Amino acid sequence: MLTPYSKVAGLHFEPPIILASGILGQTSSSMLNSLKGGFGGIVTKSIGLEPREGHPNPTMLELNTGLLNAMGLPNPGIGSYRNELQELILHVDDIPVIGSIFASDEEHFAEIAMNMEGCGADAVELNLSCPHAKGFGAALGNDQVMAGNMVLAVRNSVDIPVLVKLPPADNIAQIGLAVQGAGADAIVAINTLKAMAIDVETKKPFLGNRVGGYSGPGIKPVGLRCVYELFSTIDIPIIGCGGINTGRDVLEYILAGASALQIGSALYYRGKDAPHLISKEMCEIMESEGIGTIEEITGAAHDYI
Ligand SMILES: Cc1cc2nc3c(=O)[nH]c(=O)nc-3n(C[C@H](O)[C@H](O)[C@H](O)COP(=O)(O)O)c2cc1C
Repeated sequence: MLTPYSKVAGLHFEPPIILASGILGQTSSSMLNSLKGGFGGIVTKSIGLEPREGHPNPTMLELNTGLLNAMGLPNPGIGSYRNELQELILHVDDIPVIGSIFASDEEHFAEIAMNMEGCGADAVELNLSCPHAKGFGAALGNDQVMAGNMVLAVRNSVDIPVLVKLPPADNIAQIGLAVQGAGADAIVAINTLKAMAIDVETKKPFLGNRVGGYSGPGIKPVGLRCVYELFSTIDIPIIGCGGINTGRDVLEYILAGASALQIGSALYYRGKDAPHLISKEMCEIMESEGIGTIEEITGAAHDYI
C-alpha cells in the first residue's frame, strides 16, 4: 500500500503524522534527527519573544497512564531561535516545518509570527493552550474573544497558513468557531490537560511548579471528544493530538474528524521510530478494512445514528 497522506491548509503531510510541539523541537539537530523516525511534518518547540528559563525541577514525571510535565515553555527567544530554524529549513525541503509560537498579547504574537515566516517556516502554530505557563497559553485559548483577537493579529501579519492549538475546553466547539472566524486555516486539538501529582513521602506536590500538563495514552478519550465536537461545528481542517500511541489510535482520531495527527509522548513509549511504527500499523488496518485514503473516512464516526 502507498503511504497515506493528508493535505491540510495547503500543506502536504506524508505520512499524516507530525511531530508535536515541545518534543525534540529545541534545536535544528534534534529536529533533523527526529525526522529519521518517519515524520511527515514537524512542529518546533513553542518560541516566545524573549528567552525564558522555564519552571524549576522536577519538570517531568511518568504516571501509570501518561506523562506529567511542567517545563514552563523554556526557550531561547525568537532572536536566537532564528538560527536553529534557518539551519533546519536548509536541510529539509519536502517536509512542512511549522513554527510554534506563544505570547501574551496580539502585538507580540504578530511579531514572532513574522519572524517565523521570515525564516522560511511553512506555517505558524499559535500555542493558545499551555496549561502551566501563567499569562500565556490556556488562559487565552479558553476565552473565545481573546483567542479570536490573537488569531486575527497573526492572520493580518503573515501570508503563511495559521494553525491554532487549543486546550481541551468544555466549549471547544465555540472557541473553534471564534478562531475560524478570525481567519485560522486549521485547528490542532489538543494540548496537555492541567494536572498534578503528590509525593506521599515528602507530602508535597511532585512538580517544581506544582501543576503541569498531562499527556500520553490517558488523555486520548479527551482529545477524541474535542476533535469530534470540533468536526460537528467548524469547516476548517482539524489536526488531532493527544495520547496517540498506535495506528489504531490514529484511525480513531480520523474517524472522529481529524485530517492529520500530531504525536509527542509516543516517542517516549515507542522510541524514536514511533512515527514509522504507527504509520505502518495504520496502513495495515486501512488495508484490512479496505480503506483507500484518509479523506474517505475523515469524520465517518459522525454518520452513525
Ligand atoms: C515535555 C513536553 C513538552 C511540551 N511542550 C510543548 C510546547 O512547547 N508547546 C506546545 O504547544 N505543546 C507542548 N507540549 C504538548 C504536546 O505538543 C502535545 O500537545 C501533548 O503532549 C499531547 O500529545 P501526546 O499525548 O501525543 O504527547 C509538550 C508536551 C510534553 C510532554
